[in-house]
Amino acid sequence: MSRRIRVGVLASGGGTNLQAILDASKASRIDAEVVVIISDREGAGCLDRARSHGIDAVHIKVPKTGTDAWRAANEQIVAVLRDHQVELVAMAGYMRMISPSLLRAFPGAVMNIHPALLPSFPGTHGQGDANAHGVKLAGATVHFADEEFDRGPIIIQGVVPVLGDDTDDALAARILTVEHRIYPQAIQWFSQGRLRIEGRRVLLDGEPVSGTESLIWPPIEWQ
Ligand code: GRF
Repeated sequence: MSRRIRVGVLASGGGTNLQAILDASKASRIDAEVVVIISDREGAGCLDRARSHGIDAVHIKVPKTGTDAWRAANEQIVAVLRDHQVELVAMAGYMRMISPSLLRAFPGAVMNIHPALLPSFPGTHGQGDANAHGVKLAGATVHFADEEFDRGPIIIQGVVPVLGDDTDDALAARILTVEHRIYPQAIQWFSQGRLRIEGRRVLLDGEPVSGTESLIWPPIEWQ
């Protein structure tokens, strides 16, 4: 058994991505253990999930982005993460901006998941924006966070087809199934020390991975 890195999760919602990480950890699919969950929303489902797994669940009120109180709240978040000797911060459905000081506290060790194929459709309605635009392929992205929302170097992406009659909820649910697979994989590569950031690129094992099969949707009707 390889050493398990200590992960701190920031989440605002129901926490299905957190659950996927917890399940992967429990199944020893990832050499990582979640040691604390922090949420800006007191009644968030992610905190209940933490408590039901015996993991520290901390609510921290996060005031308006950019204010002194917001910076102070982020310092509180850093203090809780440091108290738990966190080595990787995973934002999983965390709907707030993190401060530059939090990023500096965990250089190259803050990840985020976004339910769209970045850089397309950033922001808080990625699934619906993609659906409204009429894309044929949608998906999710795990990336290293930087000072901007949804902009940091991309680690892994997953693609799903968009069906003609998809509601936003149907598409979001399909994207979520991909999120639950790619986030644990990104964390495992990090725990194995196999990710290297070179400018905008994140290399796995130092080299571009193999595999050249294409993804085409709707399917081509001839070979
Ligand atoms: C997910 O699609 C996530 O990408 C987005 O919020 C949705 C719910 O996430 N930020 P979760 O179920 O709370 O993990």
